[in-house]
Amino acid sequence: MPRVTFRSPLQEVSAEVAPGTNLLEAADACGAQVGHSCGGACACSTCHVWIRKGLESLSEQDDMEMDRLDLAYDVKPFSRLACQSKVADADVDVQITEESLKAYMDEDPATRKALEAEGKWPPRKFT
Ligand code: FES
Repeated sequence: MPRVTFRSPLQEVSAEVAPGTNLLEAADACGAQVGHSCGGACACSTCHVWIRKGLESLSEQDDMEMDRLDLAYDVKPFSRLACQSKVADADVDVQITEESLKAYMDEDPATRKALEAEGKWPPRKFT
């Protein structure tokens, strides 16, 4: 099974997932801090991630995802929406964007407060 690894200034976590799993589901499987304000309905851009390895192996980007990514911050040629990107057989390395990490912390204030108390939030650098 392919391994999906998520990196941010706060964590590096990974999970082996079945082909066909989307990256947001993979994030949930390993506790990766990927924002998901709309719950995976392709109605926000808070699950915006950068694919550092395995981009070509992901499911094709459709028009809806492209339109939604137009609303995202700091979009790169290797940007994808985690909830719309399904893995195939290859391993995938994902960098959680600043936009997505901030959204996650807004969605989970208890985690943000705990990290603030430890002096870990906000990080000095996001990438
Ligand atoms: S969670 Fe909203 S577009 Fe992916």
